[in-house]
Amino acid sequence: MPQQQKTYVYFDNDPAPLLDRIISDINPNGLFVLADTNTAQYVLPRLSGSKCLQTACTIVVPCGEINKSMESLGNVWKALAHHDANRHSLLVCVGGGMVTDLGGFAAATFKRGIQYINVPTTLLGAVDASVGGKTGINYGGLKNEVGAFHSPAAVVVTASLLATLHAEEMLSGWAEMLKHALLSDPAMVASLISSHPTSCSDPHLLRLMQDSMQVKQQIVAKDPFEGGERRALNFGHTAGHAFESLSIKRKSPVPHGYAVAFGMVVELILSNFALGFPSAEMNNVVRYIKDNYGTFEITCHNYEQLLDYMRHDKKNNGEGINFTLLRQIGDPVIDNHFPDNEICAALDIYRDMML
Ligand SMILES: NC(=O)c1ccc[n+]([C@@H]2O[C@H](COP(=O)([O-])OP(=O)(O)OC[C@H]3O[C@@H](n4cnc5c(N)ncnc54)[C@H](O)[C@@H]3O)[C@@H](O)[C@H]2O)c1
Ligand SMILES: [Zn+2]
Repeated sequence: MPQQQKTYVYFDNDPAPLLDRIISDINPNGLFVLADTNTAQYVLPRLSGSKCLQTACTIVVPCGEINKSMESLGNVWKALAHHDANRHSLLVCVGGGMVTDLGGFAAATFKRGIQYINVPTTLLGAVDASVGGKTGINYGGLKNEVGAFHSPAAVVVTASLLATLHAEEMLSGWAEMLKHALLSDPAMVASLISSHPTSCSDPHLLRLMQDSMQVKQQIVAKDPFEGGERRALNFGHTAGHAFESLSIKRKSPVPHGYAVAFGMVVELILSNFALGFPSAEMNNVVRYIKDNYGTFEITCHNYEQLLDYMRHDKKNNGEGINFTLLRQIGDPVIDNHFPDNEICAALDIYRDMML
């Protein structure tokens, strides 16, 4: 396995001068910016103070998950080639997880790999997608089917760039922050559940994002290529992906972070009865999720379908449905398995608590 390049992550609410410093240090031969149609409209103007970016060639792809595609990747390659990008060019990805995944993969593959910088513009993009080195596109109807590990040279995190995001997008990223906090530290959980993403000041939000990203980076550093420990980050996601798939089947998709929030409820219940996760802390977190995210309605008629989605989760390792659970806050346990009737019992309790 190749070594992952070290990523420098900067937290600053004045990104333009910082970007200029980072770009000057890298001293690229050719500078490119990748944005989607929304970030080109809402975010690039806020970076106009960057002298370097003013000279860059901007590549814009259509927004939306559907465009994290082979076609967009081809268009990015085409634009890079057309403007004579070379092995020493630099790509600055300004966007949410869709842009940083796509741009990171374009950077991983163009001329066998060029450097890139992420400027995340969604909360989820910042705390989850911008670090960790995973890049990729969707292919053949499958999410993240083709990709590479290729770490950005730098990540520039700025809370004020999130100002134009919908509240729903903020809450979606906040759920991943709650996950990081549950994997890490009771004080971090307490500061998130005594707060709300849309009422935080920029400096406060930036500090919370910094703590959250540190959790992810520490876990990834121990297991950069996902051999084991990194699966801790899957907490909430086995049940969460099943809820997400069911919501798509119902033709009323819930944002990824909402599905993870509901998935964390199920997985806290499993943690409580299998590993003794404390009931009082479970109740606190579940109440916060119900108050802020509402609920995902299910009946017992959905159980078989949900189990089926969980059985097909790509994080399973051939031994049935695989859960990352918590013994307590900050003490994750990977590779937990349950018979179907126990998962159904957890779904019963989910309905008691959430409906
Ligand atoms: N690489 C990883 O480790 C990793 C981790 C988690 C998620 N992901 C990927 O991230 C993607 C989801 O990321 P996302 O939730 O950021 O979605 P996204 O990038 O599609 O952004 C969501 C929407 O917000 C818009 N937007 C972005 N920034 C904006 C801003 N500042 N103001 C207004 N609108 C803005 C986008 O144009 C888009 O319409 C998925 O493709 C997922 O697979 C990757
Ligand atoms: Zn997630």
